[in-house]
Amino acid sequence: MKREVMTFPPDLIEALRTAHHVVVSTGAGVSQESGIPTFRDGLEGLWEIFDPEQFATPQAFARQPDLVWGWYEFRRAQVAKCLPNPAHQAIATLARKVRRLTVITQNVDNLHERAGSTDVIHLHGSLHAPICASCGQSYMMSANDAQAGETGGRLPPPTCPSCGGLVRPGIVWFGEMLPEEALERAQQATLHCDVFFSIGTSVVVYPAAALPFMAAEQGACVVQINPEPTGLDDYASFSLVGKAGEVMPELVAAV
Ligand code: APR
Repeated sequence: MKREVMTFPPDLIEALRTAHHVVVSTGAGVSQESGIPTFRDGLEGLWEIFDPEQFATPQAFARQPDLVWGWYEFRRAQVAKCLPNPAHQAIATLARKVRRLTVITQNVDNLHERAGSTDVIHLHGSLHAPICASCGQSYMMSANDAQAGETGGRLPPPTCPSCGGLVRPGIVWFGEMLPEEALERAQQATLHCDVFFSIGTSVVVYPAAALPFMAAEQGACVVQINPEPTGLDDYASFSLVGKAGEVMPELVAAV
């Protein structure tokens, strides 16, 4: 059975071919087809299963460091078993087709990097870059050394070799500020880009959610890829309804 090839508006293709700077902002939806659960998607969203108050706050870590560290190690082990999907790969390919491309992701997995993307800004931190909760010293963990704790399994967090404090996940938790340098770089890229993709995000968590609106405000061509409606629908120049792993490869092939 012949599957019809997707067609895209010629002015979208032209905008990409002539762009000086493309920004691709992604949320959990871009990793969904790799098998990593999103946060708010229907019933399988992560926050339907795990109470963020129990795991994703500084207070939770102070109260139960073993439980919080164990949960993030469980997530890191999950990510190590997943592979970048065609959306991650298409984004890395697009970077080779346009003059300049910056990825801004809310995701804490490393699938963009494993697909070959190089200019990646992690607004909400990374599972692979823990920090000392006392002195702030940052550490890098390799992609596949997660102690595969079971769901909710308790694991004692490492202690910081510099100060002896507890090492915590390098994730921006609810109530915490985003890393200043990452946010500044993301805002600058947003303000100066010609095309801004918003892929696989519900556009509800600020300040990341402000970026596509900032892009629209400065006159960039805003392209949304999501199977569901979001608050960005009325502001996007193009809303491509579908899964990122299906739409993005066909769009990039057409550029
Ligand atoms: N392709 C594209 N989009 C998809 C796909 C897919 N295959 N599957 C789901 N989506 C869309 C959903 O329709 C939804 O709009 O991805 C979006 C996922 O939304 P959320 O689960 O809210 O994830 P996200 O927007 O990344 O959440 C932002 O919230 O909890 C915090 O820090 C956490 O970074 C996270 C932030």
